Amino acid sequence: MSYFEVKNLVKRFGGLVAVNNISFSVEKGEIFGLIGPNGSGKTTIFNCINRYYSPTGGKIYFKGKRIDKLPTYEICRLGIGRTFQVVKPLRRMTALENVMSGAFLKTSDVAKARDRALEVLDFCGLFRYRHFPAKGLTIADKKRLEIARALATEPELLLLDEVAAGLNPRETEAAMEIIQKIRSSGVTILIVEHVMKVIMGISDRIMAINFGKEIARGTPQEIVNNEEVIKAYLGESYAQGK
Ligand SMILES: Nc1ncnc2c1ncn2[C@@H]1O[C@H](COP(=O)(O)OP(=O)(O)OP(=O)(O)O)[C@@H](O)[C@H]1O
Ligand SMILES: [Mg+2]
Repeated sequence: MSYFEVKNLVKRFGGLVAVNNISFSVEKGEIFGLIGPNGSGKTTIFNCINRYYSPTGGKIYFKGKRIDKLPTYEICRLGIGRTFQVVKPLRRMTALENVMSGAFLKTSDVAKARDRALEVLDFCGLFRYRHFPAKGLTIADKKRLEIARALATEPELLLLDEVAAGLNPRETEAAMEIIQKIRSSGVTILIVEHVMKVIMGISDRIMAINFGKEIARGTPQEIVNNEEVIKAYLGESYAQGK
């Protein structure tokens, strides 16, 4: 059995089948990318993995254990962390307090949570903002704060949902560096991203979906050359390198 496995996942919202029989597995240490047009079901897959939503059907396994019926906090405790596409900082709390809230998953000792949070803030390049209220941070720093709060829970598998969206080129480079550093620290990563430079630059394998269904899977090179991915998502101009 693979490190992480999604089998025949289905999520319906009334008559809409947002995720339609999706299966994939991720190996330990891998960066696995998920791409697809707006509304194709990427975030819903994440929401099913950490049981923010209950899947309508299918099974999810992490390190051999079935997790799709577990509560969200239990899934997080087992080692699956996530960020949210629409950032969700605790707005009036400082960056440090936000990250401490993640660290409290693994300890109830305030000093230990604080030390862990400071370490993670430093890792994510946010140390200098540790006493700033989260609501005052730029979007780029709010995205980093999402990552930092998730890292503070000490995940083994991290789900990143569009952490590079809305960033300028310099900020995008910095985000890529952080993701690479996270992987080097031994964390397996599942990433959803529209910024091609990021997803193609860092993923080992990519799955492309459309209308909740898989349309292709392969290396970044295979994916950019796949006819169906070009038609549904990338567009001819991307394929021709324009
Ligand atoms: N809570 C919900 N209730 C009803 N429909 C939903 C809900 N969440 C998502 N959907 C619908 O499910 C489909 C998939 O949405 P999802 O957010 O997973 O797409 P996505 O691939 O993440 O898109 P984007 O690239 O724009 O973030 C869309 O049609 C969306 O409107
Ligand atoms: Mg989404």
